Amino acid sequence: MKTIAIKFLMGVICVTYCIIGQEPFVDMQTCHVRLIKRKKKEFCYISFVEIDGILYLVKQKRQQGHLLAVVHDALAAYIAQSLGDDIAHKVMIIPAFHKFPGKIYDDWPATIHTLAVGATLKNKRSPYKKMNIKQACQGFRRDMIPWMAKHRQLIIIMALDIFLCNHDRHRGNLFYNAKTDSFCAIDMDCLYKYSLGLYAHQNVKRMAENDLFPLTIQETFALLELRNTLQFLVDRHSPQEMLSIFDDLVKQAGLTQDSLVCSARVQAEIDLSRNLINQNYHDVKEFIVVLGHIIQQVIVLQPVLRNFQIIEDFEKKQHEYR
Ligand SMILES: Nc1ncnc2c1ncn2[C@@H]1O[C@H](COP(=O)(O)OP(=O)(O)O)[C@@H](O)[C@H]1O
Ligand SMILES: [Mg+2]
Repeated sequence: MKTIAIKFLMGVICVTYCIIGQEPFVDMQTCHVRLIKRKKKEFCYISFVEIDGILYLVKQKRQQGHLLAVVHDALAAYIAQSLGDDIAHKVMIIPAFHKFPGKIYDDWPATIHTLAVGATLKNKRSPYKKMNIKQACQGFRRDMIPWMAKHRQLIIIMALDIFLCNHDRHRGNLFYNAKTDSFCAIDMDCLYKYSLGLYAHQNVKRMAENDLFPLTIQETFALLELRNTLQFLVDRHSPQEMLSIFDDLVKQAGLTQDSLVCSARVQAEIDLSRNLINQNYHDVKEFIVVLGHIIQQVIVLQPVLRNFQIIEDFEKKQHEYR
């Protein structure tokens, strides 16, 4: 009787998955999974598994206090997908109490990821060896702008990080494919700890009084692209939608308040994430306004910029808002 009830529950979880978050890229109920290799990392276990001839990665955190990571990773991958198919890996949750090859603790949730192409930028020789776009607890900085000006995908990833309060974008959490000169964001499992939207708009206001100017043309375009990407994200993902997806993912992971695996620490993180989803959305909108003012200032100083389509479109939109 108990097994029937559990099977029924798992079925419901699986069906629910099809309508929440990312399009399922594997069918966890029926797929045949072969475990290829397992590695113990500092904060997680990673296992490479093969399903229908394709390699995936299964990740599980090593500490119970970090279990909300699965929800953050899945939410971030879902939001990232609206920015294009290749900007980040895809992620699905493997629920708590669901046995799956590569999982170390069956009663905890885990995640399955599509594999990013290339290699992380950590310790690699590349033009990005010295790049630092990790926002940590400080938020957006002046020295990040030249990096954004070097590659459009870095702007998109920075926007995503600000939108999701992802403070941990060190070079190990970014894959680079030198053959195609493209990036793929991974590891977005620690979101909504710091108010990165608020820090961004406060920092940029301070920068404007200190070292923001002069901006090169590429840097100006990078800031405009950052602004446009953030505008796209706020238009596309309301806080209500994000909260609803977040809550569904929490359920899917098996981390609801009544569950045995949801510790007080995880519950506190859930509450913090929910508050910041709302708050950061409004802070990002403020940041968009501040960026708009800065770009207008640059155009006044360098009217020649009006020859570029992106500037023309920006001014047209600003005009419409007034
Ligand atoms: N989608 C992916 N594709 C390829 N490798 C990955 C992917 N996700 C994680 N990895 C590998 O697993 C390592 C640990 O995963 P990560 O998500 O960064 O965990 P942690 O939160 O412990 O840092 C990464 O440094 C990377 O080498
Ligand atoms: Mg990492």
